Amino acid sequence: MPNITFILPDGKEQGCTARDGLSLMEVALQNAVPGIIAECNGSAACATCHIVVDDALAPMLDPISEHESDMLDFTAAPRAPGSRLSCQIKVDGRVDGATIRIPAEV
Ligand code: FES
Repeated sequence: MPNITFILPDGKEQGCTARDGLSLMEVALQNAVPGIIAECNGSAACATCHIVVDDALAPMLDPISEHESDMLDFTAAPRAPGSRLSCQIKVDGRVDGATIRIPAEV
């Protein structure tokens, strides 16, 4: 199972083991990662699951959809180059060892 490290807004790290097929949002909620709210429960309609993926992972992920990109324009924290909606990223081998930052505001 892939290992993921979330970097919390206060700089602390929270490591998780993730099951393939879950979304990163579901992994965050299962592990009580602070800062992931997921009001729409993964429908890509709230942007409260905003994360910033690291430079190594970003190019390996499926391309961002137009809808996800539009939603990222409405995040509470400023959009960053690695910004994604965690509900739109499925866990598989590509995320093993990834470092994922939780923005200060969601
Ligand atoms: S959970 Fe609402 S956009 Fe991801």
